[in-house]
Amino acid sequence: MRILFFGDIFGKPGRQLVIGNLPALISKHKVDFVIANCENLADGRGITEKTLRQLIRFGVDGFTSGNHLWDRDESFGYIAGETKLTKPLNYPNKALGNRSYIMQKEGLKLEIITICGQVYMPPANSPFEAFDQFWESRDQSIPLLVDFHAESTAEKRAFGWFAEGRAGAVLGTHTHVQTADEEILPGGTAYITDVGMTGGHDSVIGVKKNIILQKMTTAMPIRYETSSRGTRINAVIVEIDENTNKATSITRINTAIEV
Ligand SMILES: [Fe+2]
Ligand SMILES: [Fe+2]
Repeated sequence: MRILFFGDIFGKPGRQLVIGNLPALISKHKVDFVIANCENLADGRGITEKTLRQLIRFGVDGFTSGNHLWDRDESFGYIAGETKLTKPLNYPNKALGNRSYIMQKEGLKLEIITICGQVYMPPANSPFEAFDQFWESRDQSIPLLVDFHAESTAEKRAFGWFAEGRAGAVLGTHTHVQTADEEILPGGTAYITDVGMTGGHDSVIGVKKNIILQKMTTAMPIRYETSSRGTRINAVIVEIDENTNKATSITRINTAIEV
């Protein structure tokens, strides 16, 4: 099976990039499942029902998230009930949302989870223990894709080795900066430290650069605004052999496209 995974989709420019280019990407890469990290979907801050449903309508099959998932309290009820959306697995049980989602299409199945790192991140339980417990409780005949949402390259790399041979893919997100280290680990796990950001790259990780510069040079609070300049799709295509649940290829996408 072939999977298209979008790195953090940032605000309206990010959503427009996905909506405008998804049909062509699906046919070009013969994609079976489309997954997107949605933590910055609504103007950079979490999701709204409207923005997430819009992407479902245009062909996204499942969503991973991260530390910004719950930035909007008006979305709590929707997050709790939307089965296609996964919350970080190693957050408290009382944090709203589903722990995993099994996508099914034309005889194919793929399970997705989100796990957050602990280094330079909001407090979370051990990603390693959470993954072990999850792995033991799941149907291991279904291939598994992990979005490892973390800041530290070392922690992400370590988690890739930890899940190697179990997960079909460990795809890093959160930094919004795409890394060039994609590979298939020997146990058949597709790995990349960070898929990057789908949105305006003429910015500081999605926010207008003059606003971030003002904040960093004055230390005064300021309202963030989403950049719509320098729009790029950052994504990967992963191929998993459904007979072995092992990955056979991972290809980066880093394409400048006007919206
Ligand atoms: Fe993000
Ligand atoms: Fe994040």
